[in-house]
Amino acid sequence: MKVLVTGGSGFIGSHVVDQLVDAGHKPVIYDRRPSPYRDDIQTELGELSDLTMLELAMSGCDAVLHLAAAADVNEVAKMPVESEAANARGTLNVLEAARGAGVKRVVYASTIWVYTGESGERVDEESNLGMPNHLYTASKLAGEMYCRSYNELYELEYTVLRFGIPYGPRARPAAVVPAFVGKAMAGEALTVAGAGDQSRRFVYVEDLASGCVKALDPVAANRTYNLVSDSSVTILEIAELVQDLVAPTGIEYTEQRTADYVGVEVSGVRAEEELGWTAVTPFAEGVSRYVEWRREDEAAAPVPMQPTAKAATQGFTAALTRVRKSVAMPFAYAIGSLMMLAAYVVAVDSLGLPDAQVGTLAVTMIAALAVFLLIELMWRNPKTRAISAVSSALITAIFVFAVMTPWGHHLFHLATPGRSLFILTITGVALVIALASAGIALARRRG
Ligand SMILES: NC(=O)c1ccc[n+]([C@@H]2O[C@H](COP(=O)([O-])OP(=O)(O)OC[C@H]3O[C@@H](n4cnc5c(N)ncnc54)[C@H](O)[C@@H]3O)[C@@H](O)[C@H]2O)c1
Repeated sequence: MKVLVTGGSGFIGSHVVDQLVDAGHKPVIYDRRPSPYRDDIQTELGELSDLTMLELAMSGCDAVLHLAAAADVNEVAKMPVESEAANARGTLNVLEAARGAGVKRVVYASTIWVYTGESGERVDEESNLGMPNHLYTASKLAGEMYCRSYNELYELEYTVLRFGIPYGPRARPAAVVPAFVGKAMAGEALTVAGAGDQSRRFVYVEDLASGCVKALDPVAANRTYNLVSDSSVTILEIAELVQDLVAPTGIEYTEQRTADYVGVEVSGVRAEEELGWTAVTPFAEGVSRYVEWRREDEAAAPVPMQPTAKAATQGFTAALTRVRKSVAMPFAYAIGSLMMLAAYVVAVDSLGLPDAQVGTLAVTMIAALAVFLLIELMWRNPKTRAISAVSSALITAIFVFAVMTPWGHHLFHLATPGRSLFILTITGVALVIALASAGIALARRRG
């Protein structure tokens, strides 16, 4: 299966890419930065805001694993507008691009933070969700809702995965386990918010990545799953474990964070029953693997990745994208095509062609334009593909009848296309198609 992984250069996404390769799939990374871990995987550098780039990157893909997001709650609080654009609108763009590219399924990385408003003892995927109190949760929930809407409206399959709190190799340094390990390694005391009794459903990142791969299974179509481990760990327990594994540097207590995840118990039963997925790595084992990775990572000299041919291609692709994204481009293209079309009409007029030849020219250009517009405007939507195909075939048949058969000539008073009329026709068709595609590009950019 060819799978586009948005956010494939990030913490969780990079493990997902590894496991897709191990499972025999063909991943393609879509991210705003190159992967620091793999230079052997096709990478499309782009923003979630770039619908055209997303759709291009998805071409030929069977599924999308959508992980790119503003994933750090503190960053979200610092940059609310940019974060909302990435998490909510970015997800909408991924869905729209998937619809356009004819991708079958979008697997969406959500979070168990969506249960923050819940007061019950234990929640599962059927629990009613309360109003979110953090913008991160609100924007991730918006993404879940868009997935459902796209399924209702356009029958695009989705799978929502609500991740527990991930940890493990490649984790962002600001997350709790890396922060504690980093402090302990530096000989500093660990800081715990409140009494440290906030519990978390931590899940080892490689377990999480295997859940993402399993979510490509047909059984997961239009389903939501919690990917959590079956045991909760409190922040204080983590601090104590890190003290044991790294160094006994002491624990300091600070104020509780605003809108902190309070840790209601989240059930992972559905993922186990339907996907056969459970988090298999015990927490202490996972933290110990993280500490080992961190030591190796810090011991390794920071060798910058050599610029390879691939990186050069990425640079070229990025430059092309920038040119394509420039607002001036479609305008220049439209004005250029319009001027050439006007010059063409004046030239044809000055030739003083007989009416029958002008008629043949006009019929051919109108027929070509109609077929082009049908394909361009209707082909994107799977439901209208059949109508588009049948109508294009019909127009072509009428055209062939009118221009190529003796009966058509008599009926419509047309001329037989000779060599010069043929060249004139090809030029005219190319010009109307260029103008129409410029118009469509402009309309899409404005939309
Ligand atoms: N890390 C967590 O604690 C956690 C918990 C639950 C759910 N999640 C979800 O899992 C997913 C992956 O999280 P992660 O921890 O690997 O995050 P990460 O920050 O390590 O990776 C995100 C990747 O997305 C890319 N990205 C971000 N915004 C982009 C944009 N606008 N255009 C293109 N690329 C963009 C980044 O460059 C990065 O490589 C996210 O959707 C997140 O909401 C994360």
